Amino acid sequence: MLQRIVVLTGAGISAESGLRTFREEDGLWEKHPIEEVATPQAYQANPQKVRQFYNDRWQQLNKGDVQPNAAHLALARLEQEFAGRVHLVTQNVDNLHERAGFRRITHMHGELSKVRCPVSHQVFPMQQPLSDNNVCTCCIPHYPLRPHIVWFGEMPLGMAQIETDLAQCDLFVAIGTSGSVYPAAGFVDIAQSVGAKTIELNLEPSLTASHFQEVRVGPASQTVPTLVEEILQGKL
Ligand code: APR
Repeated sequence: MLQRIVVLTGAGISAESGLRTFREEDGLWEKHPIEEVATPQAYQANPQKVRQFYNDRWQQLNKGDVQPNAAHLALARLEQEFAGRVHLVTQNVDNLHERAGFRRITHMHGELSKVRCPVSHQVFPMQQPLSDNNVCTCCIPHYPLRPHIVWFGEMPLGMAQIETDLAQCDLFVAIGTSGSVYPAAGFVDIAQSVGAKTIELNLEPSLTASHFQEVRVGPASQTVPTLVEEILQGKL
């Protein structure tokens, strides 16, 4: 019986909900180069442009037509049935796992629906598009709030807990991630080193596919519910 499962998700799990991935054809980074919208230097140089990029994605997320898909819902069911034994680590900044009902989530790259003070690092819910007028209430003087997003060159969030859970897991599943960005792309190696079973679910083999014991190719809305069913039936 599996005791501790760590699931890592990437943009691919939200693709069928209508959210663009980063590196596929017509991906987000094709239209909005990382160095222009996803680094501290970009924000320093042109805060309005960077805020606009995240405002647009936040507004898209809050439109009615972006909903959790069968993959998000299946993971939430797994957490309910495996209470306390599933740790979801997501690279995604959308809130589709929460809206599917998942509870224990580590957003290692931050969250679109939150903003933070650049000085105190206090985090607040995002209630309106960011502009120069949205300032913190935690400091004097007040500072313009920034997106609560981990930019390239910044430290990912929640790493201590992630590493603790990886060191104790007996199943590691990566879903919809290209394996392009570390430390997430290296989680499979940690899981392998502690003897966990490792499975990748992706539309096509990722850059780190060869590090997994098993690779299942297909859309997450099909592969995730199938895998969850197998886990719940004790077949893994
Ligand atoms: N089902 C399963 N996998 C899918 C689907 C789908 N329907 N659609 C796309 N994919 C897969 C692609 O094959 C690809 O491997 O999702 C992956 C998306 O890769 P990326 O766009 O690189 O996204 P991700 O791996 O999440 O990027 C990691 O990089 O730029 C940073 O911070 C950003 O969190 C992001 C990180």
